[in-house]
Amino acid sequence: MAGCAVIARTTLAAGALLVAAAVCAQSLPGPNNRPAPGNENLAATARDANYQPQVNYQLECSGCHLVDGEGARANDVPRMKGFVGHFLDVEGGREFLARVPGVSQSSFNDAQLAALLNWVLTGGMAGASAPHDFKPYSASEVGRLRAEPLKEIAGARNALLERMRDKDIAIEDGLAGRP
Ligand code: HEC
Repeated sequence: MAGCAVIARTTLAAGALLVAAAVCAQSLPGPNNRPAPGNENLAATARDANYQPQVNYQLECSGCHLVDGEGARANDVPRMKGFVGHFLDVEGGREFLARVPGVSQSSFNDAQLAALLNWVLTGGMAGASAPHDFKPYSASEVGRLRAEPLKEIAGARNALLERMRDKDIAIEDGLAGRP
């Protein structure tokens, strides 16, 4: 505290009260501060907590994709509900799903991420778009794919949509026709 007072006085002399307050604030919490009873443990990260895939989805995906996968056109977030499974119908789609930034750069480890993708594709969100012969992602496959993130996301995505159109798959991603 004495150090803070000195800094405060000197800095005040220089006329920068806010800087002094910021420097002093860094000494909090003090060495003698203790958490309130019952609040001793630090909150676990989602990765460490090892929740079920649907909980992980809520924590790290639903902010953009919304709880049911509806997406948000206003924010350029595609709809996954009833559509995302079609990526598995075209060449390169399987790899794409594990490489988009929201997936590859999530906090989850490879096994958690594989389980999350498998849940998205089979847990109801993909609906009728889920392929019948879906082969679940493994942790090692996801690990390999996320290590090579996409460089040009929109171009890669558009190429896949083009392949879907060639197969007469309706592009119901909620973004179709946007300027
Ligand atoms: C910051 C917003 C954001 C977050 C968070 C996010 N996504 Fe996304 N996601 C997007 C956008 C935007 C796209 C379209 C491709 C792109 O531009 O990255 C996308 C694309 C996808 C795709 C490919 C389907 C398509 O239509 O392109 C999948 C699968 C996906 N996200 C799953 C997830 C999962 C699972 C999580 C959570 C671990 C997640 N996303 C977190 C914004 C987000």
